[in-house]
Amino acid sequence: MSQDSNLVSAESINLAVSSALSEIDKANDLDELKLIKLNHAGDRSPIALANREIGALQGEAKSEAGKRIGQARSVVKEALDNRMVELQNNREDSILVAEKVDVTQVLANAKSSSLVVGARHPLTTIAEHIADVFIAMGYEIAEGPEAEAEWFNFDSLNISEAHPSRSSSDTFYVESLDSGVVMRTQTSPVQMRAMLERKPPIYVIAPGKVFRTDELDATHTPVFHQVEGLAVDKNLTMADLKGTLDHLAKTMFGEEIETRFRPSYFPFTEPSAELDLKCFVCKGVNKKKNFDCKTCRNEGWIEWGGCGMVNPNVLETAGIDSTRYSGFAFGMGLERTLMFRYGITDMHDLVEADIRFTSNFGLGI
Ligand code: DAH
Repeated sequence: MSQDSNLVSAESINLAVSSALSEIDKANDLDELKLIKLNHAGDRSPIALANREIGALQGEAKSEAGKRIGQARSVVKEALDNRMVELQNNREDSILVAEKVDVTQVLANAKSSSLVVGARHPLTTIAEHIADVFIAMGYEIAEGPEAEAEWFNFDSLNISEAHPSRSSSDTFYVESLDSGVVMRTQTSPVQMRAMLERKPPIYVIAPGKVFRTDELDATHTPVFHQVEGLAVDKNLTMADLKGTLDHLAKTMFGEEIETRFRPSYFPFTEPSAELDLKCFVCKGVNKKKNFDCKTCRNEGWIEWGGCGMVNPNVLETAGIDSTRYSGFAFGMGLERTLMFRYGITDMHDLVEADIRFTSNFGLGI
C-alpha cells in the first residue's frame, strides 16, 4: 500500500467512483450525461489517470491497483449505461407526450377560434358526382393530357384542317403553331385515347380541364371544365344516348327537369344534337306570358352540351369495325352545369374560388 501513488489509492479510486456515480445519477439529459462520461470515464478522468500510474507499481500493489481500477471502471461504465437507457426512455416518453394528437380537439377549437375550415371547390365535387353517376352504370373513368397532340384534339375526331376552331385565335398552341401540340380545346380527344386503349364494349366518362382563347367574363373563362362520355357497343342508338343523358339531367337538376335534342353538327358525331334543358327561370312559358326571360333569351330552352352518334370515320380511325359497332358520345361544360344547378350568375366566382363562395358548397363528395 505504501507504494500506492495518491491517484491509485483505494481512497482516491473510491472517491472517483462515488463522485462519478453521484453525477451520473443527477444527469438530467443525454447531453449532460455525455459530459459526465467524458469527465469520469474519458482519457483525462481520475480513473484513467490512475490507470496510467499502474505501470510504475510493483508486485502485489500493482495487481491490487489493477483490480481496483478495473472494478471502478466497470462500476462507472455500468452506471453510465444504465443512466443512458433511462434518459433515452425519458426522452422518448416526453416526445410521445409532446406530439400526442388529440383527435377530438380540432373540432372543439374550430368552433371557438378563428381557424377557418376550407371547402372543396364545387367544380371538383360536381365532377366527382357526375363520375359517380356513370360509374354506377358501369362506366370507367378515362383520362388524357391537357397539353394534347393536335392529332388527338382535331384530326382523329374528323375535324378538317380548315376548321375555324383550329386557328390560333381560338386554340392555345404550345410553343409554335407547327409544334403539333395544343392545350386541348375539348375533352373529346379522350374519346380517341379511350378507344385506342380498349376493345368494345367501351363505356367511359372523362371529366377534365380544357382551354380556349376566351376572355374572362360573366359566362366565359379561358380555362374551363368539361365532362366527356363515350359508349361503343353493339346496337347502340340515339334512344340509348337520350336515356343516358336524361338520367344525368335528373340527377343534376331533379326529376322534374325536361330535356330536348336539337339537331346540330359536330364533325365527330353523325347525327349530332345539342342537348337543351327547359329554362329554369321561365319554365319555357315566357312567350305565352309575355315575360322577357334573360336566362334563355325567350327561347324557353337553354343549351347544356353537345352529343350524337359517334361518326363511323372516328370509329374506323380507332380501329373499330363500324359495321359491327356503333357508339354515342356527349360533352358538357361543368361550369355551365354548376351555374344551372346553383343559379350562379358570374363565372368570376368559380374562377376566384374565394372561400366565402366555395364554403357554401361544403366538403361533400
Ligand atoms: N367537344 C364538343 C365541344 O367542346 C362537345 C361535344 C359535342 C362532345 C358532341 C361530344 C359530342 O362528345 O358527341 O363543344
